[in-house]
Amino acid sequence: MKVVLQDLVKKYPASDSIAVNHVDLTIADSELIVFLGPSGCGKTTTMRMIAGLETPDGGKIFIGERDVTYVAPKDRRVAMVFQNFSMYPSMTVYENIAFPLQALKRSKAEIDQLVREAAELVGVSALLKRGVRQVSGGEAQRVSLARAMVRRPEVFLMDEPLSSLDAKLRVQMRTEIKRLHQETRSTMVFVTHDQEEAMTLGDRIVVMSQGKVQQVGTPHEVFFDPYNLFVATFVGTPGMNLFDGVIQQSGDTLCVDLQGYMQPIPERFRATLNAKTPTPVKWGIRPEGIRFVDATDPNSLAGQIEIIESLGSRQLVFVRSGDKLFSVIVDSLHPVRQGENCHLHFDETRIHLFEAQNGRSLTQRG
Ligand SMILES: Nc1ncnc2c1ncn2[C@@H]1O[C@H](COP(=O)(O)OP(=O)(O)O)[C@@H](O)[C@H]1O
Ligand SMILES: [Mg+2]
Repeated sequence: MKVVLQDLVKKYPASDSIAVNHVDLTIADSELIVFLGPSGCGKTTTMRMIAGLETPDGGKIFIGERDVTYVAPKDRRVAMVFQNFSMYPSMTVYENIAFPLQALKRSKAEIDQLVREAAELVGVSALLKRGVRQVSGGEAQRVSLARAMVRRPEVFLMDEPLSSLDAKLRVQMRTEIKRLHQETRSTMVFVTHDQEEAMTLGDRIVVMSQGKVQQVGTPHEVFFDPYNLFVATFVGTPGMNLFDGVIQQSGDTLCVDLQGYMQPIPERFRATLNAKTPTPVKWGIRPEGIRFVDATDPNSLAGQIEIIESLGSRQLVFVRSGDKLFSVIVDSLHPVRQGENCHLHFDETRIHLFEAQNGRSLTQRG
């Protein structure tokens, strides 16, 4: 089912700020979409409005073609899994999964079939007879997924469902959720503050900050083509290198003056970025967009290697040049030594420029 949020607004009486500030979003049928943003940016509130647990102060919500803005949660065919999922501790796994169906007064045979199908999908068939106290954290989370799925929701909402699990299990459950999505093809909305989780899971990511959508795009788009400084800094670890600079003409070429080092601006942006007067910008490049080159390379910046951190197959190298510190990611086989002099080359296609005033990207393609 398609889900459409139209100019959605929510303000809690107890709070000065607006929790959800004019959000417009179309979630496609069968899409797995991820809401990503820091704590307090409005992810849960948006999700609770889709579920019908909060009433919007403005705007509309459509599920399919139906306006559900004021429809009761139980009539929306939406299921929600929370971070702190709760189970009935005195019941078995089977009874926990069956519970939502009993409330719907389904026949015993029908309940049995639906419970077994849901258990099979999340891989807890062998645990059905156990008490929920006798299953591990990861298994319990699967049971809660099965319990949400058993009603065959048209829209599946998951609010940080993996954040109470340890790191290894979290990575494993991510893959399971992806598989679950491929098998059920239900529309899923997944909330997280973890950008890595968002990147690996989402067909598309909705990046939020302070109640507003900052960018909607594929993981590739938000990573390589961020719409503004917020997205550029929130997505990607280690983060993008960012420095103050000034766009100005240097001979025949439009450049960014990084306090002395003149970096040519990518050809394709030169026409749109006229610089009759020097324009202050933020200049950015991801650590993966920087290479070590020979001193003879004319387009390079001299520096000195300060710190080297191993990332396994790759290494993170911090290079100082004047008052600037660059983080550079290179293959671990690339020889680097602490204290050594080096030269950095910036991949022109991976340079970002942002308006100094409002953070809007000047180099975004979309
Ligand atoms: N029940 C509530 N009463 C008052 N303010 C709330 C309530 N729930 C959330 N807020 C506020 O609304 C904003 C968005 O919160 P929330 O949607 O929970 O963010 P997130 O899930 O992204 O962490 C925050 O500023 C939060 O403090
Ligand atoms: Mg939340």
